Amino acid sequence: MKIAVLTGGGDCPGLNAVIRAVTLSLLPEHEVFGVERGFWGLVQRRLRPLDAAAVRDLLDEGGTLLGTHNRADPFHWEGRDASGEVLHCLAEQGVEALVVIGGDGSLTIAERFARLGVKIVGVPKTIDNDIEGNERSFGFDSAVAVVADALVRLKTTARSHGRVMVVETMGRDAGWIALEGGLAGGADAILIPERPFDLEQLASSLRERVARQGHALVCVAEGATLAGGTQSWQQLAGGVTRLGGVGALLAHELGQRLGETEVRATLLGHLQRGGAPTAFDRVLSTRFGVAAARCVREGVFGVTVALQGDRCVRVPLSTVAGRNRRVPAGHELLDCAADLGVLGLSVRTSP
Ligand code: F6P
Repeated sequence: MKIAVLTGGGDCPGLNAVIRAVTLSLLPEHEVFGVERGFWGLVQRRLRPLDAAAVRDLLDEGGTLLGTHNRADPFHWEGRDASGEVLHCLAEQGVEALVVIGGDGSLTIAERFARLGVKIVGVPKTIDNDIEGNERSFGFDSAVAVVADALVRLKTTARSHGRVMVVETMGRDAGWIALEGGLAGGADAILIPERPFDLEQLASSLRERVARQGHALVCVAEGATLAGGTQSWQQLAGGVTRLGGVGALLAHELGQRLGETEVRATLLGHLQRGGAPTAFDRVLSTRFGVAAARCVREGVFGVTVALQGDRCVRVPLSTVAGRNRRVPAGHELLDCAADLGVLGLSVRTSP
């Protein structure tokens, strides 16, 4: 068979390790092609052969050898539907199956192509860890490591100056990165989108925390929202709609309320997506790549590989498409944070 591999959406550590595992598992019985820049490359017909030499040394290499694109949806292509061009491209190149390594957006597009008869296997990718049916996406552990490291570094300067340091993480509408990163880095307050918080309450709790220990660390997810729904970050920011920047806004608002105590913000941004994958992510990427290649060999399509418990399983793309996995109420990590007295999560959610 001729099999094409693509990486879609935002990059993350471990993409190259998946490409390597898929390619090495399928060669030499099958021919493997890499599609450039996600679905963009299928519309533009940009495919190139991948052999063992092409994927050498990729295991610990960040980014994606194939390039990616997070706005290339063939079904909404410059005001028209270009899905027919993708089908034509696949037929013309003789590609019989497609391995789509992507997040919720790319897997949703993949599911639409599967419904059109394309033989597809998905591999869940995202630092956000928010893909339905999958408990751990590769890239997440690497992002959490960046957040934890940043908090640990910021603690010494926070302590030296008696300051409150606010660290903003990525994660879109899911709080996984802030939650695990905040726990791993010893944050005093963790603010996630799933738990809207009250600014005055947070400020007064931080005041107490500073009085007690001299400084405080706040880990805020970029999608965190204020309780009550009466005041949004957009309003505070004067109309900004893109995610990213809540840390600076929060630092400003806390600064107004904490009197003498200075507040500073650090935006981690794309640092969380760059660099080498952690050992955990290298292993997970390799497991996912090998599992996807196995699906191809066994003729199992219309599924994505996924991690459930400690097992690599197959989940129908139809149950993943268009959905997001957010931190559910009652999740053990929320209770864990609550028991530790981490502000913002200090109300227990399960009996
Ligand atoms: O979905 C991954 C992610 O890194 C989000 O956490 C973040 O909001 C977004 O992508 C940033 O996208 P961009 O690379 O377009 O700035």
